[in-house]
This record gives sequence, C-alpha cells and structure tokens, in this order.
Amino acid sequence: MSKKPIILGIESSCDETAASIVTENEAGIPTILSNVISSQTDVHKEFGGVVPELAARSHMEKIDFIVNKAIKDSGININDIDAVASTAGPGLIVCLSVGLSFGKALSASLNIPFIAVNHLEGHALSPKLDSKLDYPYLLLLISGGHTQFLDVKKLGKYKRLGTTIDDALGEAFDKTAKLLGIDFPGGPQIEIFAKKGDQNKYKLPKPIFNKGGCNLSFAGLKTAILKISKLIKTEQEKFDLAASFQKTINDILHKKTQIAFKEFEKENKLKEKIFVIAGGVAANKHIRNMFINLCKEKEYQYIFPSIKLCGDNAAMIAMVGLEKFKTKKFDNLDFPAKPRWQLDEEALFMKGAGVKL
Ligand code: KG4
Ligand code: ZN
Repeated sequence: MSKKPIILGIESSCDETAASIVTENEAGIPTILSNVISSQTDVHKEFGGVVPELAARSHMEKIDFIVNKAIKDSGININDIDAVASTAGPGLIVCLSVGLSFGKALSASLNIPFIAVNHLEGHALSPKLDSKLDYPYLLLLISGGHTQFLDVKKLGKYKRLGTTIDDALGEAFDKTAKLLGIDFPGGPQIEIFAKKGDQNKYKLPKPIFNKGGCNLSFAGLKTAILKISKLIKTEQEKFDLAASFQKTINDILHKKTQIAFKEFEKENKLKEKIFVIAGGVAANKHIRNMFINLCKEKEYQYIFPSIKLCGDNAAMIAMVGLEKFKTKKFDNLDFPAKPRWQLDEEALFMKGAGVKL
C-alpha cells in the first residue's frame, strides 16, 4: 500500500486567512483532513470593502496560528506533509505575499516541494473535493473579483469563452446590498431579502443581453438600482428590489450560459457534457436551482461544489496542490506573487471603454 500524498494548502489572496490539509483515500478520492478559515469581515465592515493594508496586517497576525491549527485539526504530524501549496495570485499583492512567503519558508524548512497555485484554479477544481469530475468541463466562475466562462480542458489548460466587461457578479451583489443599507459583503444577505420580495416588482436592465456572445456586463444594473433605491421607503420595497435584482441576474445567467454551452460544444468532442459553477456567488441557492433546471433541460451533468466550498478556502488550494504533486509540477522558491494572474493567459483584456463585443 503506497503512501498517499498529504498536501498543506494556504490561502491569503484577499480577506480570508485559510489553511487546509488534503490527502486522498485508497480509491484516489480527495479527502479533506482539516479546513480552517478565518474571515476578516469585522476588520473591513466599517469601510464597505476590503482595505488592503488592514487585510495584510490581519493575515500576518493570524497565519502562523491558522496553519498550526490546520495541521493539529487534521491529526497528522507536520513531518508527514509532502508538499506546501500557497496561492500566488490573482489577488492583493500585500495579502498574497503573506501566505506565499509563509508557504515557501515552511517548504524550505521541511525540505519538501513548494507549489504556487492560481486562486481561480482553486475555485475551478473545488468540486473535486466532493465529487468525481473529469476533464473537459465548462466552468462558470462567479466570485467577488471574477466572472468568467472557462473551457477547462485539463489541469493548467483553460480557454476563456466569456467574461464580464465591467463588474464581477459578486461585486454587483455587494454594491446592490450596500444601496439597500446592508453591510459588506452583502451578497448572502440579498439572497435572504429576496425570499421575502416580489421579483416582478421592478424591471431592471439586462446589459449586453442580446449581443457580445457569452460575455457579461453588470454595471448598468447598479446605476438603475441606485436610482430606485433613492425612492424606496419601506422594508418590503427593499425586499422587492433584492428579489427583482436576483431574478434579473438569473435571467442574464440563464441566457448567457446557453450561449456558453454552444461554444463549449463547438470547442470539444464531448462524450459527456459537464457544467460546473464555482466561487462565492455559486453558494446562492436561487442561482443553483436555476442552473440545475437548465442542465436537466439541456442534458448537462451539473457538478457543483458544496456550499461551504464555494467561498474562499484553502482546501481548494490544497486540491490543486494535490493534482500538481501527482504530476510533479513543482515551483521554485523565487516564484513571485502575481496579482493579475489569469487562467487563460492568452485571453484579451476586456474591461472599460473601447471593448469590442
Ligand atoms: O469566491 P469568494 O469568496 O471570494 C472571491 O474570490 O472573490 O466570493 C465572494 C463573493 C462576495 O461578493 C459575496 O457577496 C458573494 O461572493 N456571495 C454571494 C453569496 N455568498 C457569497 N452572492 C450572492 N449570494 C450568495 N449566497
Ligand atoms: Zn475566490
């Protein structure tokens, strides 16, 4: 019986300090032995967004404790770890540097390989932590900083099919929440408000709905919500606006995903059609349910990470580490933090004025 690899994952790209130990069982199925996440919500609440210097300081204060806790919770001995995987990008450089330096130092002192992980690849592989998932698959990544359709061909090989040309979807949720007087990050609260509201009360714009392939845009929605929010007087109207916003997002995703399905099918000779959603917004049950129905209708298998693995965590970073370890894809200790590291490095920059759709 060969020893299964034991990987320590470290995540500090934004406002979560996280560490996790992941291994695999005899059947080769990944197993999470520990998954420790410390969120900084309270640190940034009063500023309505993440303040990089405060985030970095908080990571520095906690990283040692969080990594030690992950090792202790897993029940393994530190000397049993086979490799350290740290997020190297994308994210805030001052934050990335904390987990990256810590991971490099630990791998050097234990004399084990170091693996630099792309945070987005962590989200992309997150469903593998609780489901069997084979390549290729179509991924919709919907987080606080990114919104992209990606053709995931294999580990490390991604083709971007579509992206947001302005705000990320999580950002749109958080901005809407702020206009409704909800503290940052308000995305999860919008889902709760929406349950009590009338989703047909307000008609909101659907930017680039009928053009731009499976590219997306959310900035126009924010402007419309700003105008309506100024006229709102009652709690019920807030619930109605949250519900109308969520419905509009669902309509946009429903339409754009069908376009992405076609592009994905054109790109690949498929034996089975698989759709994956990942990132913080993938925790939204209303959106998940819409996608489940769409997949059933279009004969796609849907493989979604469990809700607890949608947001930022280090188990997904260790998961990428595990796959890279098995193919001996190691990195040198001078691997830099890459704040703008893209999964498809050939994809065009698609933000701001002048974008051609
Ligand atoms: O993936 P994530 O934890 O961090 C990034 O890498 O960005 O995503 C965070 C984003 C935030 O914008 C948050 O408001 C949003 O995910 N989010 C949600 C829900 N839970 C988290 N948005 C809508 N509905 C939710 N239930
Ligand atoms: Zn993330």
